[in-house]
Amino acid sequence: MRSGGTDAGALPRHVAVIMDGNGRWARFRGLPRVEGHRMGIRSVRAVVECARELGIPYLTLYAFSVENWGRPEPEVSTLMGLLREFLLSELPEFVRHRIRLNVIGEAWQLPAFVREALARTQSATAVHDEMTLTLALSYAGRNEIVRAARKLAEDAAAGRIAPEQISEEVFAGRLDTAGMPDPDLVIRTSGELRVSNFLLWQGAYAEFVFTDVLWPDFGKPEFLQALDEYSRRHRRFGLTEEQAEPPSGGK
Ligand code: IPE
Ligand code: IPE
Ligand code: MG
Repeated sequence: MRSGGTDAGALPRHVAVIMDGNGRWARFRGLPRVEGHRMGIRSVRAVVECARELGIPYLTLYAFSVENWGRPEPEVSTLMGLLREFLLSELPEFVRHRIRLNVIGEAWQLPAFVREALARTQSATAVHDEMTLTLALSYAGRNEIVRAARKLAEDAAAGRIAPEQISEEVFAGRLDTAGMPDPDLVIRTSGELRVSNFLLWQGAYAEFVFTDVLWPDFGKPEFLQALDEYSRRHRRFGLTEEQAEPPSGGK
């Protein structure tokens, strides 16, 4: 049960996941890395399903970073193929469960066969508002921030905005995540303790849960455990404990 007056204790509105450890999962089994990616899709399904059942309105999955383009070409190609397969196979589920598919990152860098599947899935799910599933594809936080800054600079140069009108809200409105709430909880699998360029702006006050579990082994129980850990955190947003959780605001 929740112990105080902050919004921790409630279900997070936005959960973001750094899905890591596919390669190691495969290597530990003597399999090629891509088999880890293939198995990772099962975990994606489980987490999407669980978030939807619980009524979490925003789920964001870090699926491919700008930096990941530097991996060996066969691995990148297989990942792109799996991405298309995933989108097309899940589309009926998204429609059935009223899940809207959204993308952040440089989607235009993706191969045409992936862009085509994304466009089809996005347009078929655009009207859904129960849950937004966002895939971060060719995504990097610094890249996103620079693109937002460039848009603002263009607007300023064209006289559409004055520099003094640029606020945090205006800036956030130029990010790929415009209109979405910031993540309350960021989960990273595989034991790595870093953010790897994920949601740098948006994660300013996120709670982090790190687990040693490799992504292909991450399922519903692990997701529920992360949510449970989140529910026991005390979010203070820079305030004192008393301010954030007034004694009068108890159970
Ligand atoms: C995460 O697993 C998936 C992507 C980054 C696409 P990795 O492929 O990074 O797996 P490890 O970290 O090498 O084990
Ligand atoms: C982060 O994982 C990117 C994704 C999960 C898509 P990486 O495996 O690419 O991150 P690093 O290299 O360990 O920081
Ligand atoms: Mg990795």
